[in-house]
Amino acid sequence: MTTTLENRGYSRRAFGRLSALLGAGAVLPVYNEAALAQMSYAGSLPADAVMINANENPLGPCAEAKEVMRSFLEKGGRYLHGESIRLAQVLAEQEGLKPENVQPYAGSSDPLHRAVLAYTSPTKSFVMGEPGYEAGPHAAQRIGAKVFAVPLTSAYQHDVREMVKRAPDAGLFYVCNPNNPSATLTPRADIDWLVANKPAGSVVMIDEAYIHFTDAPRCTDMVAAGKDVIVLRTFSKIYGMAGLRAGAALARPDLLDKLRYFGSFFLPTTAMSGARTSLTVKTLVPERRKYMEEIRDDTIEWLDKRGYQVVPSVSNHFMVDVKRPGREIIRALADEKVIIGRVWPAWPTHVRVTVGTREEMAKFQAAFAKVTA
Ligand SMILES: Cc1ncc(COP(=O)(O)O)c(C=O)c1O
Repeated sequence: MTTTLENRGYSRRAFGRLSALLGAGAVLPVYNEAALAQMSYAGSLPADAVMINANENPLGPCAEAKEVMRSFLEKGGRYLHGESIRLAQVLAEQEGLKPENVQPYAGSSDPLHRAVLAYTSPTKSFVMGEPGYEAGPHAAQRIGAKVFAVPLTSAYQHDVREMVKRAPDAGLFYVCNPNNPSATLTPRADIDWLVANKPAGSVVMIDEAYIHFTDAPRCTDMVAAGKDVIVLRTFSKIYGMAGLRAGAALARPDLLDKLRYFGSFFLPTTAMSGARTSLTVKTLVPERRKYMEEIRDDTIEWLDKRGYQVVPSVSNHFMVDVKRPGREIIRALADEKVIIGRVWPAWPTHVRVTVGTREEMAKFQAAFAKVTA
């Protein structure tokens, strides 16, 4: 702890407090999508509730992954650390990287929080778009780092020039692409500009949790080119493995080492083998994307016809302007057993809705029509 946190702007008192927090096992609270979704819905859930609040994939893992994971149950008495290595190898090969550029984790929330610990401090701020995914700023604030949340542009893109201007002391730029919650893309040219113009010593973390739902250029080539970039991937979204926990950080080995500093781990062989297998199923991404897109676009068209504007979405969720405090609709829909996502303070009349199955979205439509009648 001493070597990385001293001289990073912590006062003796703040440093002591942080050391005590981490050392006492009180650890940094991790807010992932599941935790954030629960915070916005405190009621007890009926078993038949429609859950479209946490950007999960109702399809679950693909058949091939399930079969492999079942076989790993039989071997559950062994650590089998090689399974993480095999996942790193396959992901690296597919992304044109070396295995040392890939560190698997149990989901991407873990490396996201580690990056905040590693690259922000009271003198190194956390810079993001607004509205944006809350996990990073929660963690940054918790360790005493400043957070700069820069409004998205009118095209719902990260305003990278403003992000650099606002935070000359930036430690970590967080670019979620496509962004959660807006479900919109920031052009690759802007991300290139950010990486080229960021303050020396800072790192750009590109969270590609939802990238498989789009054709947008991936940023893994920046990792191959040795840039100060960390790309996050998760198997919680298109791969349908949120509860099984698999993800990865992709970066230069020296950047990954700073994340490993906060502890080593063994990862579940079920999730590691399921994730690796999912990567090898070539039809998975295009088929699931098409399935989701059709349902999403039909739902958005339906809302549009009823006069509710939706921010154009490229992802498995969308933000709809309900023209009244979003919380009111969330509560009213919950009474109809339809649990939608949360409201972001920057957009108080928008709510986030995850795209579920056809049946689930039919129930959403019926409930929405009822509560807005
Ligand atoms: C933008 C973003 N990043 C990261 C995550 C982390 O997901 P997980 O820890 O399940 O991989 C989520 C989850 O919804 C997310 O929306």
